[in-house]
Amino acid sequence: MRIGFLGAGNLARAMVQSLLKEGDQTPSDLRCLSGSGATAQRLSDDLGIALAESRQDLFEQSDIIVLAFKPQHLETISEEDSKLASGKLIISVLAGRTLNSLSDHFPSARNIARVMPNTPAKIGKGVSAFCYAENPSEEDKASVESLLESFGYAYQVDEPQMHIATALSGCGPALFFRFIDVLANAAAEKGIPKDLALEVAIKTGLGSLELMRQSNQDPQTLIDEVVSPNGVTHALLESLKNSDWHYGLENGITDAVNRSIELAGER
Ligand SMILES: NC(=O)c1ccc[n+]([C@@H]2O[C@H](COP(=O)([O-])OP(=O)(O)OC[C@H]3O[C@@H](n4cnc5c(N)ncnc54)[C@H](OP(=O)(O)O)[C@@H]3O)[C@@H](O)[C@H]2O)c1
Repeated sequence: MRIGFLGAGNLARAMVQSLLKEGDQTPSDLRCLSGSGATAQRLSDDLGIALAESRQDLFEQSDIIVLAFKPQHLETISEEDSKLASGKLIISVLAGRTLNSLSDHFPSARNIARVMPNTPAKIGKGVSAFCYAENPSEEDKASVESLLESFGYAYQVDEPQMHIATALSGCGPALFFRFIDVLANAAAEKGIPKDLALEVAIKTGLGSLELMRQSNQDPQTLIDEVVSPNGVTHALLESLKNSDWHYGLENGITDAVNRSIELAGER
């Protein structure tokens, strides 16, 4: 599977690193091109993948093209590029760019996959939601899934659900980072050194989520295991119950879904 990356920034780098580590690809299967050329040169130098000389070179030498530039760079796709992409599989990670808008730019691609990854992809623990323009062939389905699974977990959804996935897994890391930050700051204010508070909060988060994953128990059962009547956790949860944090979270998800719809020009 020869893959060409149009855009060679943070996300392309994470994908290339994972493909070389986890996938069947060797550096000679991968090729990249960027805007100024600087990031593509760095990616090629660092990871040994080929540096494309031009878009023509990139498209002609690749069976799958990953669009990994910024969403606004989609407008730089020319008619010539569209022709070169004829019969290719296009994989787009561009936030907010719908399958319709991608199909307008690549009308003769053999299929288009729209993907919403998240930043833990950088360490091979990403969560990606994805959808297709057309029913994929078995071969394309396997290619897309193996590419996405090389840097984490991948879930196929219907395109309208991409907005919800964006709010949940796309924005999710920021939510967890904020949560840990608030927790560590609160503990630090009570007298634990900040770096220790942060480390304890992170490890508590990792252990708790891993327990949740491995035990397959629902959140309330796991909470019940921690709480004893009138105990310490009870005091904490009662205090939270009396605050409006869960409304804030619910509203936040609603606002994120709405913003995603707005950015996609669907409202
Ligand atoms: N980072 C994430 O976690 C994340 C999550 C979800 C979705 N995404 C999506 O992933 C995409 C890339 O994000 P990123 O964080 O990797 O961005 P980034 O680090 O800023 O990289 C952008 C890349 O696009 C290249 N570029 C600029 N103009 C170009 C052009 N005309 N033709 C080809 N390449 C061009 C840049 O090249 P030069 O700098 O060398 O000019 C650079 O390699 C975005 O569309 C974003 O919506 C990212």
